[in-house]
Amino acid sequence: MKKQDVINQILGDRLENLANPLLVKAFAPTNIALCKYWGKRDQELNLPVTSSLSISLGSKGTSTELCLNEQAQDIFMLNGEVMSLSSNFSRRLESFLDLFRGRHSWHFRVETKTNIPLAAGLASSASGFAALVLALNKLFDWQLDSHQLSILARLGSGSACRSLWPGFVEWSKGIERSGMDSYGKEISAVWAELCIGLLMVNENEKPISSREAMQRTVDTNMFYSLWPEKVNQDLVAIKKAIDEKDFLLLGKTAESNALTMHSLMLSAWPPIQYALPETVAVTQKIWALRQQGIAVYFTQDAGPNLKLLFLSADAALIQSHFPTLEIIKPFETSSSLE
Ligand code: DP6
Repeated sequence: MKKQDVINQILGDRLENLANPLLVKAFAPTNIALCKYWGKRDQELNLPVTSSLSISLGSKGTSTELCLNEQAQDIFMLNGEVMSLSSNFSRRLESFLDLFRGRHSWHFRVETKTNIPLAAGLASSASGFAALVLALNKLFDWQLDSHQLSILARLGSGSACRSLWPGFVEWSKGIERSGMDSYGKEISAVWAELCIGLLMVNENEKPISSREAMQRTVDTNMFYSLWPEKVNQDLVAIKKAIDEKDFLLLGKTAESNALTMHSLMLSAWPPIQYALPETVAVTQKIWALRQQGIAVYFTQDAGPNLKLLFLSADAALIQSHFPTLEIIKPFETSSSLE
């Protein structure tokens, strides 16, 4: 099945709706997976092998302004700069928008602002595609429900389907070939004391995309067959931890899940290593702090930067050990970009 078939199924006649002549705006938060999505059962539709679970980062994310462009080409802006149409950023956006041009062959002007470092493993494409889908929904007045929006966002980037809600979100893998049952769902739990610390060790673009890295892991690593069972166990543990506000269980499970994902990459071929020496030094420092009884854990995505997990009662102490740490309280903040 092709992306366009999914779009046609969801939008039907609405694909030919006339666009709103005004500029529309939308914001979507970035999300950090506590139980990771790593591996696809369908590469065209970004359908995952396993379910996954994330936490959204409040006001950290992407704000998108969208309108039609009169000229016969798209215009893409990122943080105030016009992007070359041959850049990776523009090419990804353009091919996604191709799905929505309809018989009017619309062209778009997309102005994206993000307050997270791009391509540094902080899931900027997730909030980017989620914000774009929300903006398209407004521009064409499709009036889609959140599950349909989540499916559309997934077609841009898998993890984007979790970026439509604040707080905890679970992405159910689904079993249908069309992926109509593979979308994000909000978990209604508030954990006011939970903090996420962003620790940037390097802001350069990552050497290999998560898309390529996960496919290489699936294709070349015999241990990948163990990953779905690991995820099943971790999902149960994380949901229990959220239910019971059991921080040690949450931290331990999220850290172990991330380390398993990275060890699968290390044992893929050619091997993939996102960690830099500074990343390793920080992980060792975190383990040393835990030895001293401080409840701090980490997770890491497709980049060298780390996200620390801890409770607000320890925030000052953790900050003193990591002075450059940016602390987010996911259940306290609201969008500052809108
Ligand atoms: C490590 O969602 O960027 O952040 O579906 O190919 O666009 P594509 O991949 P992407 O992968 C995210 C990988 C991850 C884990 C996660 O967010 O669950």
